[in-house]
Amino acid sequence: MPSFDEFITESRIFKDRDVLSPHYIPDNLHFRDHQIRELMSSLAPALMGKKPRNLFIYGKTGTGKTCSVKQVTQKFEEKSAGSSRTVYINCRIHNKPYRVMLKVAKAVMEGFDKQGYGLPHIYERILEWVGNGKQLIIILDEIDMVKNLDELLYLITRANDELEAGGLSVIGISNRLLFKEDLDPRSKSSLYEREMVFPPYTANQLQTILKQRAELGFRPNAFTSGAINLAGAVAAQESGDARYALKILSRAAEIAEESEKDKLTDEDVKSARELVELDIVKEAIEKLPENHQMVLYAVARLSLSGSKYARLDETKDSYLFSGEVYEEYSELCKRLKKSSKTARSYRSYLNDLEMLGLLTSVESGKGIRGHTKLIKLGHPPQELIKIVSKSLEA
Ligand SMILES: Nc1ncnc2c1ncn2[C@@H]1O[C@H](COP(=O)(O)OP(=O)(O)O)[C@@H](O)[C@H]1O
Ligand SMILES: [Mg+2]
Repeated sequence: MPSFDEFITESRIFKDRDVLSPHYIPDNLHFRDHQIRELMSSLAPALMGKKPRNLFIYGKTGTGKTCSVKQVTQKFEEKSAGSSRTVYINCRIHNKPYRVMLKVAKAVMEGFDKQGYGLPHIYERILEWVGNGKQLIIILDEIDMVKNLDELLYLITRANDELEAGGLSVIGISNRLLFKEDLDPRSKSSLYEREMVFPPYTANQLQTILKQRAELGFRPNAFTSGAINLAGAVAAQESGDARYALKILSRAAEIAEESEKDKLTDEDVKSARELVELDIVKEAIEKLPENHQMVLYAVARLSLSGSKYARLDETKDSYLFSGEVYEEYSELCKRLKKSSKTARSYRSYLNDLEMLGLLTSVESGKGIRGHTKLIKLGHPPQELIKIVSKSLEA
């Protein structure tokens, strides 16, 4: 009988894989002192029995909003020891007023797990709980995902009007800057009592964040500082997004590990960058409606075979003509026995694809076949063809 020890191999790169996971929150969050202090000062009134003002937090993805808020609420819970509560809600999952309130009720009242209670009942029970003079702070992360948010915010405002003691506050978090515009003016003025911005990280900041993770998560001597700095620089150039930076770093570590190296280097970071980018592209494509995918496929096919008209103007040889892409798309529709959409819809698909960075376009100007759009693919055609065919099959 062989021993399992034979199959349990220690990683040469990782000391603790969890440290590189997107869910891991380090004890020390660099470069967020200011935001953390401000969060604490906005919650502090609750520890003195007063209702905190509502707060809206804005910042792009990966700027540390979720982890900073979680860290502060943990400290809050320790300090208040149950006399007041914060409830964290991921609105991607709990995306309706009923679900949010149910989640709140379950979090603050032990044993409250009866499904099937209607919203009015849940609302009354929460009011009773708060009515003992408690402060309840509801954190709505990715608040823009809530359907009927106006109703939810109205419910919370009304609760405060009804309560004689205690209160409900909201901390809303979003990475959509224009989300405000969709709100009813009343909701807007209630949610935006206070506002806070999380700026993107600079290259230096990302490098420090990655170094901290590398030291905690990798074996000593299993990485070069050059590789860490490259990963930080790449992510800063893309977006200043710490999640993306960590993804590149952990992918690079996996690549080094798979090729049985002792150290992760610049080369691994470069390969990781390509893979991570394709992952992101893949996610974006899979969410697209079928016609968008077919147009993208047509662009990719033509990019491989080359434009029929490229010879007419050598300076534009890497571009495709909008008209020929439309023809290719229409043929593809025929082959797949789908009815192709009008040229007008086709142009709107092109626009959407361009917004997502999947392709770029320029207007040709007069002279080249009249006035037309010139199109170029944003990623290598072979890879896109693979991704789109798979997605269309599924
Ligand atoms: N200042 C920081 N120091 C260390 N890690 C950070 C910092 N900011 C973000 N991270 C890490 O980056 C990832 C994304 O952060 P997150 O808080 O989820 O961003 P957001 O909510 O703004 O999209 C998480 O894994 C988090 O641990
Ligand atoms: Mg977040």
